[in-house]
Amino acid sequence: MSSTILILGACGQIGTELTYALRDVCGNDCVIASDIREGSEELMNTGPFELLDATDYTAIEDVVMHYEIEEVYLMAAMLSAASEKFPERAWNLNMNSLFNVLNLAKERKIEKVFWPSSIAVFGKNTPRENTPQRTIMDPSTVYGISKQSGERWCAYYHHKFGVDVRSVRYPGLISWKTLPGGGTTDYAVEIFHHALAEGSYTCFLEEDTTLPMMFMDDAIRATVQIMSCDSDDLSVRSSYNLAAMSFSPKELATSIQKHLPDFRMSYSPDFRQEIAATWPMSIDDSKARKDWNWSPEYDLERTTATMLEKLQTK
Ligand SMILES: NC(=O)c1ccc[n+]([C@@H]2O[C@H](COP(=O)([O-])OP(=O)(O)OC[C@H]3O[C@@H](n4cnc5c(N)ncnc54)[C@H](O)[C@@H]3O)[C@@H](O)[C@H]2O)c1
Repeated sequence: MSSTILILGACGQIGTELTYALRDVCGNDCVIASDIREGSEELMNTGPFELLDATDYTAIEDVVMHYEIEEVYLMAAMLSAASEKFPERAWNLNMNSLFNVLNLAKERKIEKVFWPSSIAVFGKNTPRENTPQRTIMDPSTVYGISKQSGERWCAYYHHKFGVDVRSVRYPGLISWKTLPGGGTTDYAVEIFHHALAEGSYTCFLEEDTTLPMMFMDDAIRATVQIMSCDSDDLSVRSSYNLAAMSFSPKELATSIQKHLPDFRMSYSPDFRQEIAATWPMSIDDSKARKDWNWSPEYDLERTTATMLEKLQTK
């Protein structure tokens, strides 16, 4: 990889680690981080940064021209739980930012686009176990509706205008460098911070709510991998199913107790339980495995051990 890259929404949970990873691969000066707010000290100090609103086409175009950007990673979005509170703002941000980037590619001002979808594209009539790549998709959340629409637009721009847009449906992501930004799986990050600081955690999901999850290193690797492969290898231009592990809050608590035996978990489900109840429990990602050799490296035990170790030494 030796492209000039712009990341929109670079200061969030995924964007931060993606920026570090791409700067490692492509060189610091080739990866322009941008967001509507400033990010961590490391992110701000390791390479170029621009304050940039992903809904402002002209501002993005100026940055693209100035740095001669070839690839854009669009990580700016409003996540599932926040979107239920601000439906119109979520729709405007999630859709307009995507149209801006797709249109830049359509006009050949950039060559390649990465845009993440989510397991939220599925709904309550989707088979919940081993959810197939192609299946019933009837999302009932604001966020899920925006992601499903986004997928259709990506496929449309690819087939109609030859836009090289690539996408994965991330499951819930677990990371230690940056906190999550208002999603339904945030509990799986918060729990580690509370376990270490207080020895207990009150979970906002019910104990048996099994969801597909992934450690951040795997998510970043998948992102870099799908963006590096040959365009002809990609048979899916909406978004690829992507999986690593599935667990419930109770199983995560048990895994933490193997390291911290006194850790105590209690449950106080809120509105996010209703969102989680419509999402798959596990995902069939065989298409990604076949097309671009996807394979995860972190299971629950390795994720738990890594999270506790990294947070303790942070
Ligand atoms: N984190 C997950 O578990 C997860 C799972 C599935 C899909 N995704 C998707 O991955 C992408 C990144 O998610 P994340 O978890 O890093 O989100 P996040 O909320 O942590 O980060 C989003 C970033 O976008 C920025 N932003 C908001 N409005 C903006 C605007 N108008 N212009 C520019 N930047 C703006 C925010 O400041 C923030 O830094 C999103 O599309 C999200 O839907 C995330």
